[in-house]
Amino acid sequence: MAILFRLFKFTLIALITPLTLLACNSLSINKSPSPSNQLESKPLTSLPPIAPKNIEPERIPDAPYLQTPPEVVLRMLEMAKVNKNDVVYDLGSGDGRIVIAAAQKFGARAIGIEIDPELIRESDRESKLAIAKTPEISDRIQFIKQDFFKTDLRDATVITLYLLPQANLRVRSEILPKLKSGTRIISNEYDLGDLPPNQTETIKVGNREYRIYLWILD
Ligand SMILES: C[S@@+](CC[C@H](N)C(=O)[O-])C[C@H]1O[C@@H](n2cnc3c(N)ncnc32)[C@H](O)[C@@H]1O
Repeated sequence: MAILFRLFKFTLIALITPLTLLACNSLSINKSPSPSNQLESKPLTSLPPIAPKNIEPERIPDAPYLQTPPEVVLRMLEMAKVNKNDVVYDLGSGDGRIVIAAAQKFGARAIGIEIDPELIRESDRESKLAIAKTPEISDRIQFIKQDFFKTDLRDATVITLYLLPQANLRVRSEILPKLKSGTRIISNEYDLGDLPPNQTETIKVGNREYRIYLWILD
């Protein structure tokens, strides 16, 4: 009896299962898609492209990032006799220290040209701190992310440099001819090839000596 009952149960299950599957299947095929189904079956709209993070300079800089020590910055600006009538450009302005000092300590208008966007951001941070201490400099300092060989420097009265010998030679041949007579060029470390400077000075900071060169353009 028990065997007969089990046989009956097995036959019943064997018949019901495929019928149930068949019914479900036909339901899902014939059913018109619900709004939620429609949403799911829609192709994904393409996402707007993510702009690459602007962290790289547009080209290899002409000099690596090194900082002029504060004592040397001061002496460079003193030697160039920077004053409130000057327009100072620092070519490759790094963290902005020369620009900020020219405005804060000498009253000049000063512009930093820097190719590295991260250093421009650093300069902006430094400017904010400087402006908090001396608000009057806020409209006298500016930083521009640009290749200084492509910058219009015609209103410059002082140019500061801390580059490499090769870059200085390019500054001499490509930038100096476009500057006004009387413009002072002040360079930390390197000369301008065989162009005789009007003044040089060596200043010791810690164990290191820094050579400063000044030229006054004819
Ligand atoms: C030695 S650091 C001097 C930084 C700052 N002037 C100072 O004295 O502390 C040279 C700087 O020049 C920048 N630089 C190099 N070539 C450049 C170019 N063609 N245009 C703009 N900036 C440049 C570098 O990114 C670097 O920050």
